[in-house]
Amino acid sequence: EAAEKGGYEHFMIKEIYEQPKAIRETMTGRLAKDDSRVVFDELKWTKEDVANIKKIVITACGTAFHAGIVGKYYLEQLARIPVEVDIASEFRYRSPLTDEQTLAIVISQSGETSDTLAALKEAKRLGARTLAITNVVGSSIAREADQVIYTWAGPEIAVASTKAYTTQLISVLMLALYLADLKGTLPPERIQELIKGLRALPGQAHELLEDVEPVKTFAQQYGFNEDVFFIGRSLDYAVALEGSLKLKEISYIHAEAYAAGELKHGTLALIIEGVPVIALATQHDVYEKMLSNIKEVKARDAVVIGIAMKGDEEIKKYVDHTIFIPATDKYLAPILAVIPLQLLAYYAAVTRGADVDKPRNLAKSVTVE
Ligand code: G6P
Repeated sequence: EAAEKGGYEHFMIKEIYEQPKAIRETMTGRLAKDDSRVVFDELKWTKEDVANIKKIVITACGTAFHAGIVGKYYLEQLARIPVEVDIASEFRYRSPLTDEQTLAIVISQSGETSDTLAALKEAKRLGARTLAITNVVGSSIAREADQVIYTWAGPEIAVASTKAYTTQLISVLMLALYLADLKGTLPPERIQELIKGLRALPGQAHELLEDVEPVKTFAQQYGFNEDVFFIGRSLDYAVALEGSLKLKEISYIHAEAYAAGELKHGTLALIIEGVPVIALATQHDVYEKMLSNIKEVKARDAVVIGIAMKGDEEIKKYVDHTIFIPATDKYLAPILAVIPLQLLAYYAAVTRGADVDKPRNLAKSVTVE
C-alpha cells in the first residue's frame, strides 16, 4: 500500500495532488486545436439532436451530486437549457416529469452507486435520452447509459472524492460548451475564451498546490472547532456545499454550507464569537452582495476566511484571513476554489488524528440502498 501511495501519507492527499494531471487528461483530445470548440467524438450530436432536448435532469449522490449543482449553472447559463438537479435516491421515487425530450445525465465516479443506477434506469424507462459521466470504464452505469463521457481522473481510492469532482466539473463544462456551440447560444469568441481558460487550469491548479502552508495553518488553528460554516453565492454556493461535505466526511467537524443570501433565514442564529466561516467570493456578479454577507457574520464576531481571486485586494478589508486562487473566468473558478477546501478538510482531519482515507461509517462506493 505504501508503494501505491507514491510517497504520500494518504491516498487523499496523493489524489489532491494528482488534480493537474487528471484535469489535463480529461480535456485531452476534446478541445479543438484552434480553441474554437469542444469535440466529443463519443457523442457526435447534430443540431437536430440538440434542438430536441427541452430539459436536462442531472441525478447523482454525494460529491457527484455537488458536481451536478455546478453543472446546472453551466448548462443553463451557457447552453440555455433548463436543468433540474436531483439526488438519485429522491429522483427515483418521485415520479419525475421526464420524457423523450429530456436528456438525463447521471454523474458517478465509480459507476456503481445503486441509487444512481436506479435513477438512470428510471429515466430510461420514461423515455429519456441518457448520458453518464463516470470515471470507471465498463462500470454498470457506463453500460446502462445510452452514451458515456469518461472523466480520466485515474483510480480514486480515498473515500472522500477529490480529483473525481474536479474532472466531473471539467466534463460538464465541456458538455455545456459543446451544446452552446451546436445551439448557437454563445458567441464564438466567448467559447474560445473559456477554452483558453480551461487550458490554463492544470498549470493554475499546480500553482495552488505549490503553497499549501497557509491552509495547513488554518486547519491546525481551527481544526478543533466543533462547527464550521461555508457561505457563497451562485457557483460559490455550489462549491461551499462540497467544501462542507469534505470537512464533515473526514474530520467529523460539523460543517454547514449556506447560500449567503439565506443566512438571515436561519444560520445567522448560530454565528457567535469565534466561529469559523469560510466565505467564497470568486463570483464578480454577486461580489458586492457577498461582501454584505461577510459584514453580517463579522458583525457577530465570526472568524472569516475569504476565498478570493488573486488581484482582489478589497476582500482583505473585510475578512480575517484570505486564501487566493489564481485569477480565472467565473465559470472556471469552482475548479480552483475547491482545492483549498479539500486541503483544509485534509489537514483538519490529520490534525484531529482521524482516519483520512477510511472515515467511519462511510464507503467509497455505496452499492446497496
Ligand atoms: C459515496 C462516496 C462519495 C461519493 C458518493 C457517490 O458516498 O463516499 O465520495 O461522492 O458515494 O459515489 P459515485 O461513485 O456515484 O460518484
